Amino acid sequence: MLRLNGVARAHIKGRERIRVLQGLDLEVQRGEMVSIMGPSGSGKSTLLDVIAGVIPSNEGVVELAGHRMDGKSESLRTQIRAAHIGFVFQFYCLIPALTAEENVMLPLHLWKLSRKERALRADAALEVVGMTHRRRHLPGELSGGEQQRISIARAIAGNPDVLLCDEPTGDLNKETGLEVMAIIEQLSHHYRKAVVVVTHDPNVAALADRHLRLQNGVLVDDRPNLR
Ligand SMILES: Nc1ncnc2c1ncn2[C@@H]1O[C@H](COP(=O)(O)OP(=O)(O)OP(=O)(O)O)[C@@H](O)[C@H]1O
Ligand SMILES: [Mg+2]
Repeated sequence: MLRLNGVARAHIKGRERIRVLQGLDLEVQRGEMVSIMGPSGSGKSTLLDVIAGVIPSNEGVVELAGHRMDGKSESLRTQIRAAHIGFVFQFYCLIPALTAEENVMLPLHLWKLSRKERALRADAALEVVGMTHRRRHLPGELSGGEQQRISIARAIAGNPDVLLCDEPTGDLNKETGLEVMAIIEQLSHHYRKAVVVVTHDPNVAALADRHLRLQNGVLVDDRPNLR
């Protein structure tokens, strides 16, 4: 579902060239959950941005659900991303003035759907994350764990094949974090999405089917040391 081969990406800042990804390989199958750990600044968020086509790779192959992302224009990458990727962030990134349901409907505006169809899809996603009863709440009227559930609903409303999660439990207490991870695990194993979870928490990484570490610009096999 997701394949990266020999991917390189550097950030340019003034005259400095910061090499982040340097010949990185990754494959994630449908229904598989992969964890990625690695020190701060090792390039984990950069990697997710390259997978999602938010930023282009400088070298290598990025293939998503049979579509090549590398070498594509920004607008084509955006189209492929909208059709195949859901993104979950540490700090939820919900729009404060919109209700939970409206937040979940937001990405569906990219599709040619009636308002009714958008609402139906949003409600189905809210049900998957167990937040139907909170759909009229504003983000400020929800707990951290509830906001993360809403952001997961937003990520899956368009029925993506790949779910990318950047420290999804980073702002949650242990118990709430595990509840959120149970949803993400279900999306992988029951709904058959290819899931990549970036985390600093070995207990979260341990829930994945396969554990990787980003080190010197490439991914290596890892075994999380449980606390
Ligand atoms: N837009 C940018 N311009 C220049 N340098 C950047 C940019 N984004 C990231 N970097 C640099 O690239 C490196 C990798 O950053 P990245 O955000 O991918 O790390 P990370 O592994 O996600 O770290 P963290 O665990 O702290 O979130 C860092 O050294 C960072 O300073
Ligand atoms: Mg990061």
